[in-house]
Amino acid sequence: MNAEPANFSANIHRVDYLAPYAEPCVDATSFIDPGARVCESLDGDWRFAIDPYDACLRARWFEENYCDEDGRAYPVDFSFDEWGTIPVPSCWNLQDPQWYWYEGSAVYVRDVDVAPGAPGERVFLLFGAASYAAYVFLNGEYLGWHQGASTPFQIEVTGRLCEKNRLLVVVNNSRRPDRVPTDNTDWFNYGGLHRSVSLMRVPSCFIRTASVALVPDRTFSTIAVTVEVDGMDLDGSAHLSIPDLGCEQAFDVVGGVGTVEVDASPSLWSPENPRLYDVWIRYGEDEWHDRIGFREIRVEGSTILLNGAPVFLAGVSQHEESVAHGRTLSEAEIRENFSIAKQMGCVYMRLAHYPHNGLAARVADEVGILLWEEVPVYWAILFDDESVFADAENQLRELILRDRNRASVIIWSVGNENADSDARLSFMSRLVDTCRVLDSTRPVSAACLVDPTVPAIADRLAAHLDIIGVNEYYGWYEPDFSKLPLLFSNSHLDKPVIICEFGADAVAGLRGDADEMFTEDHQLSIYARQIEVLRDITYIQGVSPWILYDFRCPRRTHHLQGYYNRKGLLSADKTHRKLAFDAMRAWYESM
Ligand code: GCU
Repeated sequence: MNAEPANFSANIHRVDYLAPYAEPCVDATSFIDPGARVCESLDGDWRFAIDPYDACLRARWFEENYCDEDGRAYPVDFSFDEWGTIPVPSCWNLQDPQWYWYEGSAVYVRDVDVAPGAPGERVFLLFGAASYAAYVFLNGEYLGWHQGASTPFQIEVTGRLCEKNRLLVVVNNSRRPDRVPTDNTDWFNYGGLHRSVSLMRVPSCFIRTASVALVPDRTFSTIAVTVEVDGMDLDGSAHLSIPDLGCEQAFDVVGGVGTVEVDASPSLWSPENPRLYDVWIRYGEDEWHDRIGFREIRVEGSTILLNGAPVFLAGVSQHEESVAHGRTLSEAEIRENFSIAKQMGCVYMRLAHYPHNGLAARVADEVGILLWEEVPVYWAILFDDESVFADAENQLRELILRDRNRASVIIWSVGNENADSDARLSFMSRLVDTCRVLDSTRPVSAACLVDPTVPAIADRLAAHLDIIGVNEYYGWYEPDFSKLPLLFSNSHLDKPVIICEFGADAVAGLRGDADEMFTEDHQLSIYARQIEVLRDITYIQGVSPWILYDFRCPRRTHHLQGYYNRKGLLSADKTHRKLAFDAMRAWYESM
């Protein structure tokens, strides 16, 4: 029998259909920091179809093999140009009721007409994020895949672009035990190209990454800059310019890396003074630019110091979600969330439980909010699986490389509520080490569980952390409130503690007795008793109650939850502030 065409019967017999796509895996090693470069947006309406059986990857639809060598048509199972469209960026869950709960693969296709590049120019595809895995094809060629639902990735397409191009991306958001997070979380599993896609053009030799920060030596007088250059001319001279600081400094690049320290006396960035400076770095034909705040964050004993002064991180936790847009928050929604937090008296927010859109930290730089950023090493990860560690570490690397120039980001968190075990301790302490290698300017934390039996704060991971994050739900999951003061009197800590989570569910607008669960009065009574204890614990240097507003959660089926987690201080649509909001505001205003 003649060999069947590859895009027909052959694929149905292939179980390991993903094997051909295992390489190249796009990861942090190819990270590019675009800074504030102007890129060509590829956002807009893309052709789209869900693909529950992964037929595209199995039958290689991306080759668009419509006929045999003699021109006889094949009855293909796709019609890219006739499919419906979906906006990019967006979460497919909210684009059509039939896709609300959909988990699996989906296919995105768009034509990309681009002007031919200048001689020597290099072109990159930039993806803000794709949840969870993304396989990228250009003009029928496989370019590579990325895993991790919330971090950016970049793929070079230099020399592959014609005047008219077909870009196809398969995105898979399946929950799996071997992913980070696993198949079990307390949030909604959105899917898709939920952040922007763009094209970036740079000279043949360009600045791939740049880090710009105050040297954390308590003098606030030295700015350290490191650049990584990509291209043929890896030895040369770069030029640093910070006009508002009168800084114009040439420095050497050797083997593709250049570092320089310059004396400067910047107006120090803080929530009260979110001063940003234009920073330009030039190398050859390339010019990298960003707006950067200069501040120092450090831990001394049980105190957190911002620019040398103790700071109490009066905050609140937040998921990256809105009723209308899911994970794809608009800039207006990001700004609204920070504004509401400031009205509560917050100077700080915990962006849980995964990297939020990079725009969030940029807006926080501008409006003056301190941020905790986190990778989704959440609950029961496969801590003894090296490929899972590689995934978690890569997400952490991509987060740090993306946001290390953001003054607002002051804490990296390596995870949340992970049961203590030797494998977990090894896995997460290695992530802490990665944080420190990549960024020596910020403290590292994690949201730890308490030991309920004593009770005490006794997580072995705490020995590896600069700041101990603690989640505790006395009054809710642990109804016996008398244990809360015991928790602290039993814990003898020499590091700052942030209470990353406490709270209770309440249906917005539901009133009743203080002991009636799911009423605002009950939530308020728990907040009042929590505040009464927390306010007197000297080593508590920050609080971020769970959570700013209600959020979608498939685990929450109680008739008063309705597939939402109702622990918000506001309703999910943020139109209603619950009683406990004012309790937090009163506490923060009293500080
Ligand atoms: C946990 C977890 C949150 C979760 C919350 C809750 O602490 O960190 O992700 O939503 O508790 O149970 O509401």
